Amino acid sequence: MILSIESSCDDSAVAITEIATNKLLFHKKISQEIEHSVYGGVVPELAARLHAEALPKILEQCEPYFDKLKAVAVTSSPGLAVTLVEGVTMAKAVAVALDIPIIGVNHLIGHIYSLFMEKETTFPLTVLLVSGGHTQVMEVKNLREIETVAKSMDDSFGESFDKVAKMMGLGYPGGPLIQELAKDGDRLAYNFTVPLHQSPLIAFSYSGLKNAVRLAVEEAGEDKEKYKDIAASFEHIATKHLTMKLKKYFKSHPPKTFAIVGGASANLYLREQIKELLKPYGAKLILSELQYCSDNAAMIGRVGVDMYKEGMFSSLEELNISPKSKL
Ligand code: KG4
Ligand code: ZN
Repeated sequence: MILSIESSCDDSAVAITEIATNKLLFHKKISQEIEHSVYGGVVPELAARLHAEALPKILEQCEPYFDKLKAVAVTSSPGLAVTLVEGVTMAKAVAVALDIPIIGVNHLIGHIYSLFMEKETTFPLTVLLVSGGHTQVMEVKNLREIETVAKSMDDSFGESFDKVAKMMGLGYPGGPLIQELAKDGDRLAYNFTVPLHQSPLIAFSYSGLKNAVRLAVEEAGEDKEKYKDIAASFEHIATKHLTMKLKKYFKSHPPKTFAIVGGASANLYLREQIKELLKPYGAKLILSELQYCSDNAAMIGRVGVDMYKEGMFSSLEELNISPKSKL
């Protein structure tokens, strides 16, 4: 069995996965959403303190599995430095105490592997990762061969939802709140410009759209009815930006199997629009189960199993956190 730990942002999570079957035997996640909600975003120092409290508590519950553990897998990159350290420190302590090897997992590969919970991997894949920290398209041949072909130049897709929700005083995380508000709004009420629509670049940008929404929110003032239309129009344009750039990319790289992963892949409008986009190519769309879209330790454990099988271990001295991803 593999013990896995996730603490890259605001979720403290630990899981146990069976190596031979990919079966998830234990998974517990303590989310810090309520604590960060008042600030409208994640406060790194508060997050680190909450991880330091939560992680050992969850680990205690894994004690019955300790003598069966073959390795410990931990998110070591990317993420918030002060929170990654909490998970990696605990993983090192477990590795030393139980005399088992340690595996440093890239969180973005974790999101890709959320597609393969309790099952075998199916590669190759074209993947759109949309989370709070990242917006990128990757060509995934296998665990070792992953190429990023497009990414955001500034804010990420999920982050833009968080920021718009903050402007409206809705709380954190913004994705589900904006999605809910948008349901009753008119998607065409506000004519926001699609980011980079005239640019030949295959890249993403959300800071301009965010600023356009800020002006609309300011103009709406206390008229909360208008917030629904702003939310709907924002969700529409934020998604259209993704589909327009993907369409451009597909001209030279038609998709066969396409996946959307990451916390924001839970967005229903995005899922709908991507389904439409893929139709003319006859491409297959795969999605992770909703419970594994947002950060969790089960996906880290699933990567851990494949890295274990490939002997991809780190030495205790060499395994360090890295806030920026290599991908
Ligand atoms: O993957 P994740 O849990 O954490 C990171 O690795 O960043 O993603 C969290 C992000 C947040 O920005 C959150 O607002 C966004 O995913 N999110 C959504 C939805 N659900 C979560 N964004 C849009 N629509 C949603 N339904
Ligand atoms: Zn994530």
